[in-house]
Amino acid sequence: MADVQRPDAAPPPIIRRADYVPPAWRVPEVALDFMLDADETWVRATLSVVRADSGAGMPLALDGGGQKLVSLRVDGVPATWRTDGDRILIDLPGNAHRIETECVIHPATNTQLMGLYASGGLLCTQCEAEGFRRITFFPDRPDILSRYTVRMEADRATYPVLLANGDRINGGDLPGGRHWAQWRDPFPKPSYLFALVAGDLAVNRDRFITRSGRGVDLGIWVREGDLPRTGHAMAALKASMAWDERVYGREYDLSVFNIVAVADFNFGAMENKGLNIFNSRYILADPETATDADYDAVAGVVAHEYFHNWSGNRVTCRDWFQLSLKEGFTVFRDQQFSADQGSAAVKRIEDVRLLRAAQFPEDGGPLAHPVRPDSYIEISNFYTATVYNKGAELIRMMATMLGWDRFRRGCDLYFDRHDGQAVTCEDFVRAIEEGGEADLSRFRLWYSQAGTPRVTATLDHHGTAATLRLTQSLAATPGQPVKQPMPIPLRVALFGAETGRRLGEERLIVLEDAAAEIPFEGLAERPVLSINRGFSAPVIVETTRPAADLALLSAHDDDPFARYEALQQLMLDTILADLQGRIDHAPVIAAMRDVLGDAARDPAFVAEAVLPPSEAFVGDHLPAIDPEAVHAARERLRAAIGGALVDDWRGLHDRLKAGAYELTPAAKGGRRLRTIALSYMFAAGAADAAARAWAQFEAADNMTDRQGALAALASSDAAERPRALAAFYDRYRGDALVIDKWFSTQALSTRPDTLRAVIALAAHPDFTLANPNRVRALIGAFAANQRAFHQADGQGYRFVADMILALDPINPQTAARMVPPFGRWRRFDPDRATLMTAELNRILAVPGLSRDVFEQVSKSLA
Ligand code: PHE
Ligand code: ZN
Repeated sequence: MADVQRPDAAPPPIIRRADYVPPAWRVPEVALDFMLDADETWVRATLSVVRADSGAGMPLALDGGGQKLVSLRVDGVPATWRTDGDRILIDLPGNAHRIETECVIHPATNTQLMGLYASGGLLCTQCEAEGFRRITFFPDRPDILSRYTVRMEADRATYPVLLANGDRINGGDLPGGRHWAQWRDPFPKPSYLFALVAGDLAVNRDRFITRSGRGVDLGIWVREGDLPRTGHAMAALKASMAWDERVYGREYDLSVFNIVAVADFNFGAMENKGLNIFNSRYILADPETATDADYDAVAGVVAHEYFHNWSGNRVTCRDWFQLSLKEGFTVFRDQQFSADQGSAAVKRIEDVRLLRAAQFPEDGGPLAHPVRPDSYIEISNFYTATVYNKGAELIRMMATMLGWDRFRRGCDLYFDRHDGQAVTCEDFVRAIEEGGEADLSRFRLWYSQAGTPRVTATLDHHGTAATLRLTQSLAATPGQPVKQPMPIPLRVALFGAETGRRLGEERLIVLEDAAAEIPFEGLAERPVLSINRGFSAPVIVETTRPAADLALLSAHDDDPFARYEALQQLMLDTILADLQGRIDHAPVIAAMRDVLGDAARDPAFVAEAVLPPSEAFVGDHLPAIDPEAVHAARERLRAAIGGALVDDWRGLHDRLKAGAYELTPAAKGGRRLRTIALSYMFAAGAADAAARAWAQFEAADNMTDRQGALAALASSDAAERPRALAAFYDRYRGDALVIDKWFSTQALSTRPDTLRAVIALAAHPDFTLANPNRVRALIGAFAANQRAFHQADGQGYRFVADMILALDPINPQTAARMVPPFGRWRRFDPDRATLMTAELNRILAVPGLSRDVFEQVSKSLA
């Protein structure tokens, strides 16, 4: 309830990177004892604390999360404490003491899903970033590394499985139907990596032998009925373990590695030492319920969390401003892994698509922040595409500039030098510099400057020579009015305008200054510029190339990403020209016909290449976005492509009908292209599109085909649409992960009545604000549907703002994640901007907002 008189009505404090001070006390050993119960759990903690060099005269400060402290002893004697907000301060006379606390927490009512909480009959923890303090009083900061011993006691029937970090060292039965277990993690770790799980779980067990011959017991723990859906995750785990040995020389270090899947989880998964906890959507997969994209996401997230064992756990972050130290590096590593498992080209295209969809808008709006932020109000708001995905691009640029061998030597030095430490992004860069023998002094600017650089490129041709003129610029972002040029590594090649042949070798040009001129010689024909190949730098390249040149690159470039990019640019140019009243779809259709020639050889690549840029991406290239006009222009292009090539699409839809289901890259590519062909037939208005979609839906032996057909129908007026939606719901009712797809498919529909449908779905008995996956499936998907969210009457804004306000008291982290779409208000016409800021102001006026939502809303208005 609104609490108008709340005493803390002052804005919440801003935490600054520059204010970092080393801890006054260290905590080398922690013993925890849990009397587990969903309603009321008792936590006894014994901390051995040691005064640090910088701790002279300083009290011991223990963070709390609002829980009640029942008792406190120092060296066995009841002691007093002072409170300071949610912290307690204890004055200690000596340099080493034993602190014992006892407190009570309430997992069943922990709807924030931070700390110890209940999910579908399980008890589980989430501690990153600051959840551990909600379990017990502790100096909850990542530069405190402790060895943990954990004892858990619980009712045996309700919680037959008791797991924590490390190895199980003891346990047994107790009177009264209770039992206990004790676990010990030998590696010192920060509190954010603590985890426990209690519940009725079944396990898929396997074993991995490390390259030095140590055996590791692997376990994936799920609800009994989900066991058949754990095979893919297990295979991915073993592949990840072998990959990290082979590619980075990093071996697993405990004799046990457990993963638990839970249904209620704020993010994707969590890398707790030896006990990863996953959102079940990133563990469970079988052909009937998971799409090919889901399979890839499962493998990617399993790898990501596994790789954290070194990049995150063995070497961790000094403070949360260094988050990209572990996240950027680990995303880069999981991207490399996935590229090695399937098509590297397609993986790169997907990664860049995500960066452009999620990170570029962040960089271009009021929530822009550096990869290493300078300040925050609530750290949970900084698990962003900038920290993760742009952070990964920074690592990639270093690897590109140094070459793999030198980069790898830098990584070796980093891991060796900092094993067991909590360090900074600066420490990482210095290790790469020293181990890789490079000078990255100016490169460090990438960590401190927010915003996406713009590079202009013009190629002037004279005789057999040419000059490439490059400039770079970086727009102001909040708190950073003036920027400096940064080293931008650009892979560049030239192609002959007549033959399409590459003219000379590819070059790696590092644009260090604001401008540069690069000469080329010995050119036998007019050159066409291929630049930022492989997306070697996370920048926006502005270069004017006529449609014919883009078509040539789309057909002949030998870098698959550059081929993709050329066709994307051609489609973008075509849509932008349409928006200015110049409609000419012919060059796109001709180029697309060429690309379709590769459909049999590389269907996965072709599927990526033939998709037009998203409405949001088109919007990013306009001075002021008119979502209706963007939608209409993009649809006109889709209709033209669909219509002109309708026989090709129909042929593909027939030909790509697979035999028995397989999970090979070729089969996956075929499925993807087949559904894209179907959607182009809809765009063309083909009379047989709906019947084909229904047939695909009905005959499908896998979720990719079935959901693909459903999505095509969901955006149509076909009579088959309601039938398919009802059949899908009936078939999968009770399977939460699939019902999420049912919600999101409708929220992503391009129909004009999508808002009305989504409002109705929010009242559906299966909709709940208590489950973050369901919230993301309906509200998150809707807010990403540019045209529907930005409906001119502002009702889309009102609906999402209502949801944010309803969710904030339940789960502030998830509520705050729905705010950023409002922050783009400056990019729209004045009427929409007014409506959007009105909703932001309405939210801001509500008393008692969480720090999470307060930060995102107030910054979005600034
Ligand atoms: N550290 C997790 C990861 O691997 C993300 C996460 C953050 C999960 C906060 C839960 C809470 O990226
Ligand atoms: Zn991570």
